[in-house]
Amino acid sequence: MTSAGTDLHARAERLLDRELERFEREHPRSAELARRARSSLLAGVPMHWMVRWPGGFPVFAAEAWGARFRDVDGHEYVDLCLGDTGAMTGHSPEPVVRAVAEQAARGITLMLPSEEALWVGEELTRRFGLPRWQFALTATDANRFSIRLARLITGRPKVLVFNWCYHGTVDESFATLRDGRVVEREGNLGPPVPPDATTRVVEWNDVEALERELGHGDVACVLTEPALTNIGIVHPRPGFHDALRELTRATGTLLLVDETHTLCAGTGGYTAAHGLDPDLLTVGKAIGSGIPSAAYGFSEEVAARVEAAIGRDESDVGGVGGTLAANVLSLAAVRATLEHVLTEEAFGRMIELGERFERGVQETIDASGVPWHVTRLGCRAEYLFRAERPVTGSDAAAGADHLLDRLIHLYALNRGILLTPFHNMALMSPATTEADVDRHTEVFAAAVRELTA
Ligand SMILES: Cc1ncc(COP(=O)(O)O)c(C=O)c1O
Repeated sequence: MTSAGTDLHARAERLLDRELERFEREHPRSAELARRARSSLLAGVPMHWMVRWPGGFPVFAAEAWGARFRDVDGHEYVDLCLGDTGAMTGHSPEPVVRAVAEQAARGITLMLPSEEALWVGEELTRRFGLPRWQFALTATDANRFSIRLARLITGRPKVLVFNWCYHGTVDESFATLRDGRVVEREGNLGPPVPPDATTRVVEWNDVEALERELGHGDVACVLTEPALTNIGIVHPRPGFHDALRELTRATGTLLLVDETHTLCAGTGGYTAAHGLDPDLLTVGKAIGSGIPSAAYGFSEEVAARVEAAIGRDESDVGGVGGTLAANVLSLAAVRATLEHVLTEEAFGRMIELGERFERGVQETIDASGVPWHVTRLGCRAEYLFRAERPVTGSDAAAGADHLLDRLIHLYALNRGILLTPFHNMALMSPATTEADVDRHTEVFAAAVRELTA
């Protein structure tokens, strides 16, 4: 580390102590609930990872609306995390609340289809281009089910993922490369089998490695986001998607594109915006405004192969299922979200706000000379604590700085801004305003000023 870097980190340590003190002082009710939670909840939180919120305990939410929420201590926040995309629609958009309330009064789950399923399938086809759909409750499940079906119709055992990808709690995807070998990714708890039994891993943008690994002929599908969004945003190099499509076709491998986060690129995600042609596509989180819902789509050819492979009496006995999947409440939420909230017009505004966010951060970086950069995909933007834009997931991971990360998140939180945990990601919803974005720019600039003073 350079001496400038050492100074920055020494200042970051001091600022973090100050911010931790402030956080504790200003959040007495959250602190009290966190203490009480220790006797009824594992590790004192409803989801274990919540122990990692930067203040030492999480802020407890009281209510959320649009792009804002209030905590139990009465502080109001601009929410740029938006449930890590689950609330990219803004919290509780009115048309969805109405549709969900009306549907809930008329039935929640029946194990029968409703007409909404057809509307949603047709709309997803219009948006993403794939002609056939199935539904699940989480993007994780949509990925897991797609992988199962890819294995079924190809008769191949393995999945190929890109290093440092994230696709939910999908066993096959929690593998990483160490000295060229496929090993457990840190944080993979209780894995069923060693990851090299199920998974091939290559670096994002590495066409040569992709060709080599697909050449083994044992990969059922490549599971990928169209741009990595979970280790910072890592864009594809020009031509990468063409090579990926050509190589998957040439080796009889299916291409499964996960649009759960890259939906931020527009109404039909990155796939529609950039003319991708996947065999399978998954999307979850925001499509039901946070009401559990996800979808997975099939090309005509893949749909025909799946239908031919599953006898009438065989469906749902193994890896694909879920009693509550495709329930009528979930589909009512998806319909209302697609029809009224995540519209073409809304994306136009959200993407403009994303550009405004990017400009604000870039100006601060330029003015202060910190060796960081900001990057954007549609209405999602992110800053990384390294000067060069990453080309691979490993590059991006090498730019992680836990101290700065924690400080920036806490600094923002103490000033009424919630960023996505574990990276410096911000998302714009239809309810986000220019003033919300500018508030972040001011707070970010203040943090950088203090760090470099
Ligand atoms: C690209 C991608 N796919 C799938 C998932 C899993 O979503 P869920 O946790 O809602 O199942 C995530 C979660 O962050 C994701 O980023």
